[in-house]
Amino acid sequence: MQGFLSEERRGAVLRNLRTDAGTLTRDYLSAAREVLQELVAMPDLVQRLPLERKPGCYSRNLLAGNDAVSVWAIVWGEGSATSIHDHHCSCCFGVVSGTVTETWYRAIDTNRAVQTEEQERQPGYVACMLPSGPNIHRMRNFGPGEAISIHIYGFDHEVHASSIETEYTAVSG
Ligand SMILES: [Fe+2]
Repeated sequence: MQGFLSEERRGAVLRNLRTDAGTLTRDYLSAAREVLQELVAMPDLVQRLPLERKPGCYSRNLLAGNDAVSVWAIVWGEGSATSIHDHHCSCCFGVVSGTVTETWYRAIDTNRAVQTEEQERQPGYVACMLPSGPNIHRMRNFGPGEAISIHIYGFDHEVHASSIETEYTAVSG
């Protein structure tokens, strides 16, 4: 499933992510932000990639990865949503096309959370978050049509199945 980006671009992305000191440092996060800003500025390139699409669901496509970091394109089918979750690693993302609605939550115990904020993320939007915080969120595509975003996670895709640490159930505040 790896290799949707050309070998040259894949090498450049991984080099530019500067993971020598791990994926939690300020240097890494600013490098990830720069890489994302570059990728979201090339929607034609991303849309031309042979990305998997699942109607009504979201589909993750590995674009590049090594033992420190993995870069994914997520195609959000209309109506698709993640669980409410936090991450075991740093998580940076940028929106390429469509609109992704991001909702934030505050944990009230180990598996329940209340909503605190909701924002529509438009093409060009880039954000980085650390696993500490905690940063609990959910992403959804209310449409119309699909949305595509690029996510850079500080995990080895051969070790972890996903970036999710804990999933929460929403309760009203
Ligand atoms: Fe997330």
